Amino acid sequence: MHRYGAVEAASYRVAREISLTGLSSWRDAVAPYFLPGRTVLDLGAGTGLFVRAFAEWFPDVTVVAVEPSPDMRSASGLAMLAGDAASIPLPDASVDVVWMSTVVHHVPDLAAAGAELRRVLRPGGVVVLRSLFRERHEGIGLFRFFPAAVRGVAGFPTVAEVADGMGFAVDRLEAVAQVTASSLADKASRLRWEADTLLRSLSAEEFAEGGDRLLRAAAVETGPVVDHLDLLVLKTVGAV
Ligand SMILES: C[S@@+](CC[C@H](N)C(=O)[O-])C[C@H]1O[C@@H](n2cnc3c(N)ncnc32)[C@H](O)[C@@H]1O
Repeated sequence: MHRYGAVEAASYRVAREISLTGLSSWRDAVAPYFLPGRTVLDLGAGTGLFVRAFAEWFPDVTVVAVEPSPDMRSASGLAMLAGDAASIPLPDASVDVVWMSTVVHHVPDLAAAGAELRRVLRPGGVVVLRSLFRERHEGIGLFRFFPAAVRGVAGFPTVAEVADGMGFAVDRLEAVAQVTASSLADKASRLRWEADTLLRSLSAEEFAEGGDRLLRAAAVETGPVVDHLDLLVLKTVGAV
């Protein structure tokens, strides 16, 4: 598991948090699961990007945040419980949806996580993931400037590895667009090596070269930066 310490937590807020407007396609994508009265577990909630988004988008949903890193919990400024995918401090059958955004590649034991998710989910509950998967990384614009970062994709599981490993069935899989930054210049100014699993796979030289390529492109391209991550919805095996 990569450790998210104080430096990573501070960088994460600058480099990886996206405006709620930029995430609006995600609001539409997850709306069918975030129905009034439901309880959502944000597992690996990080600095609370989606805790804040869900509070704004779905005010009638209760969100409980669980995060293993004390520094990420502290940087969030929000109430979060200490725990991880294999040890969730919640009672049996207490949540309707488990939300995992860019977390599953950090989970060391998918089978243990799957068993724990089944324990906390109510009957008919679903796991909703936002992630990059190893065989589906075409939606990430970063590779245009940092081609060597494709090496980092090897550290991500495939869709089948996640579903089979956790013991769930795939219910829905699709790429969802997001406006990651208002422009390439904005993206360049917020880039942090330590805040991104893909960038961390680069040497200092590769990171610097990619940064130069990005700045050159930013001088001529002024439009918004659109990336795609996958929405994967998992349901209990046998559920209809
Ligand atoms: C890339 S950040 C994503 C944060 C947040 N979900 C978001 O989308 O902004 C990954 C988070 O997963 C957490 N994490 C790492 N290993 C975990 C595990 N085994 N179970 C749950 N969360 C984990 C990290 O501490 C970190 O906060």
